Amino acid sequence: MRAPLRLLVLVSGAGSLLQALIDAEAAGSLAAQVVAVGADREGTTGLERASAAGVPTFVEPVSAHADRATWDRALADRVGEHAPDLVITAGFMKILGPRLLGRWTVLNTHPALLPSFPGAHGVRDALAYGVRVTGSTAHLVDAGVDTGPIIEQRVVAIADDDTEATLHERIKAVEREMLVDVVTAMATGGWQVEGRRVRVGGAVG
Ligand code: GAR
Repeated sequence: MRAPLRLLVLVSGAGSLLQALIDAEAAGSLAAQVVAVGADREGTTGLERASAAGVPTFVEPVSAHADRATWDRALADRVGEHAPDLVITAGFMKILGPRLLGRWTVLNTHPALLPSFPGAHGVRDALAYGVRVTGSTAHLVDAGVDTGPIIEQRVVAIADDDTEATLHERIKAVEREMLVDVVTAMATGGWQVEGRRVRVGGAVG
C-alpha cells in the first residue's frame, strides 16, 4: 500500500482550509498526512488549529530577514526539515521564492476562477467587476501570481446582495471540499504536469 502523502501546509490567517485537511485526515479519507504547518506570522488561528491537532508548527516572518531571497532560503530549510511530498499554500499571503518552488510541488487554492481576478483580492475584484459567477481554483504554484497550471475549478454564483464577506464564506465552503478532493486524488493517483495541463489520478484536470 502506498504510504500517506506527506503534506506541509503554509498559512497566514484563519486556517479553515487547513482545518478541512486535518478533519479529512482524522476521518481517514485523505490518504495523506499533515506533517507540519508553517506560517509567516505569529498568533494566527491557523497555527492554533495545527497545535490543537498535535501538528508541529513553525513561523518564518519575512521581516526577520534582510531580503526576500534570504527569507526564501530560510523558509525552504524549515520546510525541508519535515520532508514533505507536497507543499500546500492555504491562505498563505506571500509570494514564494525560487528556492522553495525549485524543491517541491506547491498546491494553492485561489478564491476566484483563474485566470480572472488573481492576487490578494480575488473576491473583492470579482464583485467589483460585476461577474455573475466566480468560484475557486486549485492550481500548482509557479513563479507568477496565481499563474500556475490549473488542476480543478468549482463555480459559485454571485447573489445581488452579496458582500465580500458573504461571497467569500460561500467560496470557502466550496474551496474546502475541493482542496480535500484534489489532495485525495493526488495522494491516491499521483500527478503529472504536461505544459499547462495537470494529470491527477489518471484524469487530465
Ligand atoms: C481562502 O479563500 C484562500 O483561497 C485565500 O484565503 C482564504 C484562506 O482562508 N487565499 C488567497 O486569497 C491567496 N491569494 P482560511 O485562512 O480560512 O483557510
